[in-house]
Parts: sequence; structure tokens; C-alpha cells
Amino acid sequence: MIVDRQGRRFRNLRVSLTSACNYACTYCVPNGKRLVAAQDELSAEAMVRGVAYLIEAAGIERLRITGGEPLVSPRLETFLRGVTPLGLDDISLTTNGQLLSRKLPLLLEAGIRRLNVSLDTLDPDHFRQIARGGDLATVLDGLERARAAGLKIKVNMVPLRGQNLDQVLPLLDYCLERGFELRFIELMRMGHLASDANGFLTQFVSLPQLLQVIGEHYEFLQTGAPVDATALRYEIPGQGVFGVIANESVPFCRTCSRLRLSSTGWLHGCLSSSNRHFVGDLLDKPRHQALPALQRLLVKALGDKQEVAFSGGATVMKIIGG
Ligand code: 5AD
Repeated sequence: MIVDRQGRRFRNLRVSLTSACNYACTYCVPNGKRLVAAQDELSAEAMVRGVAYLIEAAGIERLRITGGEPLVSPRLETFLRGVTPLGLDDISLTTNGQLLSRKLPLLLEAGIRRLNVSLDTLDPDHFRQIARGGDLATVLDGLERARAAGLKIKVNMVPLRGQNLDQVLPLLDYCLERGFELRFIELMRMGHLASDANGFLTQFVSLPQLLQVIGEHYEFLQTGAPVDATALRYEIPGQGVFGVIANESVPFCRTCSRLRLSSTGWLHGCLSSSNRHFVGDLLDKPRHQALPALQRLLVKALGDKQEVAFSGGATVMKIIGG
């Protein structure tokens, strides 16, 4: 097991199945051009081997499938069938929900029980302005069907000043009524926002500002969360729970257990570091050759983690997922 001086180790793996996305959200894609999939993405089989090797080499226990948008990838089905028998404690998926209705049978058949669905507004016009792709009604339909199928659902919202702050309460009501856990994500200085301090600051909504908005309509108290959780959780008694991922206000690097594998075969130990380690070639090698080499790279990747706080990263969320 590889452990660092702060006692951190990799437990949670996020695999970005593709960097392609059917949205072009303003905070993720600077010029509004929807990006096509990266060249040289790994095959589903290589990615499955990557997960299997990382379970052994790093002690991975939980897997989250991300993107880009994972549901647009033609490799989804083979990947899911490959990773479900690997004995992980949990497999979940983050999606923008646009293809959720269509892919739901596949997800259920593969044993997926938990989903995070990104949804920044319930207003169709604002939705188009922020996501610059897709359609709100389709996402809401996907959410209803996933709920009816018994999936446990978290909804991710990035509050943005001047864009969707008025949606905080409507989205909270929507989620509480349906038993979804709303997760507010403080805007992160990633991609173009890492070098655009003004753009970042004009849009950024902090944890205290957010709690003030919610506090005007709800009483809540802080409630428990796992030690290596990124979210602070709050309970609205009798109604439900919401969470805040407060990267800036309450940094969580000290307990970070996340490792990321990109669709082109790079390991990222930290979202805030521009270091990455190529493992694509190792995934075609047999276990006895791959594992020792992988372990050396994992030591480096763990060393890339920030001590305390996220300080910005040039990497774009859509390439390595949330
Ligand atoms: N800051 C905060 N959240 C972001 N996401 C994408 N880019 C950023 C950013 N710069 C969110 C998406 C998705 C989740 C995986 O990450 O909205 O819900």
C-alpha cells in the first residue's frame, strides 16, 4: 500500500471514459465550442485492465465513472461489463443526464445504484445559456425515471453569481421533494478560470454566501460525513440533506483519497497539479510487468497532492472529470 506523510492513500478512482461532451458549460469550456473526443482514447478493455491493476497496485475500493460525459461514449457498455465483476465496494457515475433515460436500462443491468447528475438551473432559458447544449426537459425526465427505478441520486449544482444564484432555492426544493441530495460545488479555478482571476471572482459564490441564501428559507444543521468526503453535509430537519463541496472555503486536500485516470491513459494524483503520469502503455502489459511500473508512478502521483488546499489547475474538468 502506498501511503504519504499525511497518511493519505488512494482509495477512490475516477475514470474519465471520454473527454467528449454534449454540453459546453460556460465554466468548463471557454469559447463555447463543444469539444470532440480526444484522439487516442484507450479501448474499454484497456481501461478495465487499468481499473483491475489499480485495485491491486493502489488499493482502490470505489470507482466513479466520469468524463467528459460518460454516457456519450460507445465504450460504456463494455467498460461496465468489465468493471462490475472486479469486486469493488461501489461503482457510481457522474452524468449531465441528457442521455440518462436512454442508458438507464444498461446502468441498471450493470448494477449501478448511485448517480450524480449535474444540473445548474431549472429554468430552460438559463439552462441553454449555461450548458450551451442539451435540453432541460430531457434531463428532468431522466431524473424521474432514475428515481422511479430506485437509484440513489445526488444533483450537482455550481452556483454562479449573476447566472443561477436565484436557482439555489428552487433546486433545493426540487431535490428535497424527490429525496435527491443536492450538492453545491464551489466554483473551482480550473482550466481557463485558473488564469482568469477576474472572471473567477465575479462568478464565485462562497460557502457562507450560499448558506446565507439557504438560511433565509430553511433551518439546517451540519451533519456527519465520511472522513475522506469532499462535501460538508447539512440536514434540514424532517426534509432532507444537502451538501456543499467547498474547495475554496473549507479545503479538503488533507484527507483526499482520489486518483484519476484519463481516457487517454494518464494518471492524475491531484486536480491542482499539472503533473500527470502516462500509464496507457502499461495497460497492454501482463500483470507481473505492469504492477511494479504502476506502483512507481503511483508514488509520484501521490506526491503530486497539495498539502492543504486546491490552488488552481490548468487541467479542464471535462478532460479528467470531477
Ligand atoms: N468548478 C466547479 N465545478 C465544476 N464542474 C465542472 N467544472 C467545474 C468548475 N470549474 C462540475 C460539473 C459537474 C461536476 C463533475 O463538476 O458541473 O457537476
